[in-house]
Parts: sequence; structure tokens; C-alpha cells
Amino acid sequence: HDTEKGAYAHYMLKEIDEQPAVMRRLLQEYSGKDGVVTLDPTITKAVNAADRIYIIACGTSYHAGLVGKHLLETIAGIPTEVHISSEFSYNMPLLSKKPLFVFISQSGETADSRAVLVKVKKLGHPTLTMTNVEGSTLYREADYKMLLFAGPEIAVASTKAYTAMIAVFAFIAVASAQKKGTKLDLDLVHEMSIAAQGMEQMIDEKALLKEVARDYLSITRNAFYIGRGLDYYVCMEASLKLKEVSYIQAEGFAGGELKHGTIALIEDGTPVFAFATQKNVNNNIRSNVQEVAARGAHTCIISMDGVTNHADDRIVLPNVHPALTPLVCAVPLQLIAYYAALQNECDVDKPRNLAKSVTVE
Ligand code: G6P
Repeated sequence: HDTEKGAYAHYMLKEIDEQPAVMRRLLQEYSGKDGVVTLDPTITKAVNAADRIYIIACGTSYHAGLVGKHLLETIAGIPTEVHISSEFSYNMPLLSKKPLFVFISQSGETADSRAVLVKVKKLGHPTLTMTNVEGSTLYREADYKMLLFAGPEIAVASTKAYTAMIAVFAFIAVASAQKKGTKLDLDLVHEMSIAAQGMEQMIDEKALLKEVARDYLSITRNAFYIGRGLDYYVCMEASLKLKEVSYIQAEGFAGGELKHGTIALIEDGTPVFAFATQKNVNNNIRSNVQEVAARGAHTCIISMDGVTNHADDRIVLPNVHPALTPLVCAVPLQLIAYYAALQNECDVDKPRNLAKSVTVE
């Protein structure tokens, strides 16, 4: 049954493992037999009517939103901003003439996000909620709704909802481009099934990822994740996941910005994980790895090409379309956090001080 752990020691591990199946379910829900992306036409219309999309979310969902922004801008050509709900609520930026608000929320109950929904509805703007929970507050109150079909997520640290959100953004972006007649170099249905297989391959690397957690994270108090572009967004989620479940202080950093201050924190043995999946910044991020390696960091490169350069170790990712790399990166970042939490004897599924859904502002 969906809400039972079965043979799994923890829900978090079960939910990490479920991700390829969630991708396949989403393919069924959001594409037709002919391999064409199919979305509720009223949603595609609302997306294409907007001159700017405002993504509003908290926590892991915010991080999925950052990837969503990249997909909406690069695939659909729609300017997109991503905002933390609690910030947007009280410090609203100047809005465009025809905004569309997209709320992303696993639970559909996050009070900070709902506060924004209420405010922008009062202003008369159209709203879309992307959630895992049909009938939740944010689902009910939005004009348009899309489901994540990830199945119940029980572990407090979000895993499968994150990758489901990214996938749903890819469907929205492609549906929008299809409708506008934009020529695409991305066959999403095909590429997403390749990504699902790739996620499976990473799930099969548990032994390696456990070893990485042991080698890099067993005695340290802090850790860094660096990346550029899409990889930077992945780093933000990687550091949040590690903090949440293992209580190791971590920072997700834009590779090029590290040298402007934060590199002062690098000491002998400081763990630095570098995601390097994006061709346009591949050389740049590798120089950033060299910079920290020269200052004694313990470095691991996570890339599709498997080139180690100046790093101590590598994790090789399966080849996937460059727009979908966050889907396969998610698995090692989640498993590294999971094994680090086990090492630190933390309560993986129910970390201290956290709640699965936060219903107070
Ligand atoms: C809580 C959870 C996080 C989650 C965030 C947003 O803080 O602990 O894991 O990312 O809320 O939740 P939502 O349900 O709105 O996606």
C-alpha cells in the first residue's frame, strides 16, 4: 500500500526509489499515445496569455520553482520570476500587466503560500496551483489546478514531489511552446522516459552514494554544493536536503560567486560537491573546483561526462537531455543526504523542529 513502508527502513528511502515510477505516471497523465504533450487546453491558454509568470513557493517547492523558471524561459520563452511566499506576501515586487501566478506546494496547505494566493486573487490575477494533494486548500482556491501524481509523501523531507514538480513544469513549458508553434529541439516524452531510466540507474548506485556520505560527511560540520545555471538550483536543494535530515550545515552556491567571499570558509578537508551537467559553464565550474581544491577542499564532481579534473572523486550521471538534468541529479543529492543522516543517527523521516506542512504564517 502507498502509505506503508513495507520492506523499507524509512519513508524517505522508499520515496526516493519511487521517483522513476512517478515520472512514468506523469507521462501517462500529461501525454498522449502519439508522444505529444497534452495539457488541459484552458491551462495552456492561461500560460500563453501571461506576459510574465510568478512562481510562488516555500522550501523544496521553491527550489523546484527555480528549475521551473529555467524551463519556462528556455522552452516556452515566457519571462518568469520565482519568489519565496513569505517574502512576496509582505514585499510584493512591481507586477507586469498580465501576470499568471503559479503556486507550487506538495501539501497544498502551506499558509505562507496561501497568504499570497488570497492577496493576488483580490488583485484579480489568474492563479494556477500545482500540488500533490487534490482538494487541498491551494488546489481548491486557485483558478487552474495541476496534480503531481507522486502518491502520498510521508517523510518530512520532500523528495519525489520535487522531481514531480520539475517534470510538470517541463510539460507546461512544452505544451505552451507547442501551442505557439515554436520549433523545439526537445522531444519531451522521449527524453523524460530516458530521464526516468537514468533516475533508476542512480537509485542502483546506493552502495557508492553511501560510501560518498561516509568519506565526505562523517566527521564534518559543514559542506558546500557548487554549480552554475540549472546546477546551481540543484545545489540549493542539495544543501537544504542535507541540512534538514543530517543537521550538517550546508550551503548551495553559485560556482562563480564562491570566490567573492564564501571561499574563506574552505579549509583542509571541507567537503565540496560540484554539479557539472551544463555544457555552457562546464569549464567555468571546473575552474571553481580547482580553486577550492587548491585550498584543501575535499572535492567530488557530479557530471555526465565523468571527467574528474582536479577533483578527488566523481559521481557519473547517466546521459539525459540538458534541460532534464535536475531529475537525475536529485537522486544522488537525496541519497547522500539520507546516508549522512543515518550516519549521524538522525531521525530521517521526522527531523527535529520540522513539520511536513506548515500551516502558520
Ligand atoms: C515545509 C516542509 C518542506 C516543504 C515546505 C513547503 O517546510 O518541511 O519540506 O518543502 O514546507 O511545503 P509545500 O507542501 O508547500 O510544498
